[in-house]
Amino acid sequence: MIKKRVSINVGAGYDVHIGPALLDTCGETLRQVLGECRLAIITDSNVERLYLDKVKKSLSSSGFESVSLTFPAGESSKNISTLSAILEFLAENNFTRKDAVVALGGGVVGDICGFASSVFLRGIRYVQIPTTLLSAVDSSVGGKTAIDLEAGKNLAGAFKQPEVVICDTDTLSTLNETELSNGVAESVKYGILFDKELFDEFAKSDLKSLLDDKEKLVNMIARCVSHKGRIVEKDEFDNGERRLLNLGHTIGHAVEKCSSFSVPHGHAVAIGTSMIARAGEEKGLTECGTFDAVKTVLEKYALPTSCEFSSCELLSSSLNDKKRKGNKIGLVIIESIGKCYIKEEPIEALESYIK
Ligand SMILES: NC(=O)c1ccc[n+]([C@@H]2O[C@H](COP(=O)([O-])OP(=O)(O)OC[C@H]3O[C@@H](n4cnc5c(N)ncnc54)[C@H](O)[C@@H]3O)[C@@H](O)[C@H]2O)c1
Ligand SMILES: [Zn+2]
Repeated sequence: MIKKRVSINVGAGYDVHIGPALLDTCGETLRQVLGECRLAIITDSNVERLYLDKVKKSLSSSGFESVSLTFPAGESSKNISTLSAILEFLAENNFTRKDAVVALGGGVVGDICGFASSVFLRGIRYVQIPTTLLSAVDSSVGGKTAIDLEAGKNLAGAFKQPEVVICDTDTLSTLNETELSNGVAESVKYGILFDKELFDEFAKSDLKSLLDDKEKLVNMIARCVSHKGRIVEKDEFDNGERRLLNLGHTIGHAVEKCSSFSVPHGHAVAIGTSMIARAGEEKGLTECGTFDAVKTVLEKYALPTSCEFSSCELLSSSLNDKKRKGNKIGLVIIESIGKCYIKEEPIEALESYIK
């Protein structure tokens, strides 16, 4: 069976293991990385039902003592109350700095567990076991952790790298089409940013053949993770090149906000990416034909490329984007597929991209 390991050289460094059936051996992997310790598995209500027993079984057969806590699935749980419940749970179970947290789930579980681990006892170790495509290719790697506040998404958080990431590609088979396409949007993003060959593979493939061909899936995730790793290694704290990963996100976040978050994140990013491709072409910044190529690929994976909101609505939502610095905003422009750059634009110029 195909398995891949990608090393991320940030802080002490860590590996991302990608392959089928890795949950069955996660105990052994964690034993090698963490040594002797106790584990707190944190998960959500959907993932608990599907995978908690399997993980517990593997951990206990490797001699780990573990406790687990489940919170209701969904972005609405990524808040201060859940964070507080996790911290109290760790304290009640007498967790020490020697012990570790296991984040079993998608980006919501990963983000909140990472943040809890960064503040509990001023920092304990944590590991990521991503179970969505989005968390596999994006949120489980790179060490950005957060919770949402009433005032907005991801407004409180910390940089905290995991000790290891274990991505069992078999878990992706239980995702629904929306969750899968969400992950595809972020994966295609790496192709547009850095890797024309990866983009072309998405163009040739489709969701079904991607999932059916285990080798292809493992290779695709590994390729995305390598791109993310390389960027995070150069710019862990998001002051420079890491901002490229925001391709499609400035407009995407505005779409999410305008829809009161009923448009899922990946879908919003697909809309944002398409709009920036079209605006770039109109302004002569982007190679002709790029918009069509991007649109064709995204639509192939049931992703939207336009939205019902007016430019006025989108603009007023983007004006309080947290990525904004003073009166400037760093927009990621596509030069051609596989080549992008950040263009610092005055905030007033944003309107001309959204039109
Ligand atoms: N830290 C980062 O760098 C980063 C990057 C991108 C996104 N994010 C964050 O990630 C979150 C989105 O992540 P997500 O899309 O994984 O959301 P999610 O964690 O809410 O998972 C989506 C849904 O899928 C369910 N699910 C998870 N695994 C499953 C499986 N294997 N089978 C069936 N159902 C499963 C979940 O219970 C949930 O209902 C957002 O909060 C976003 O802000 C963080
Ligand atoms: Zn994103």
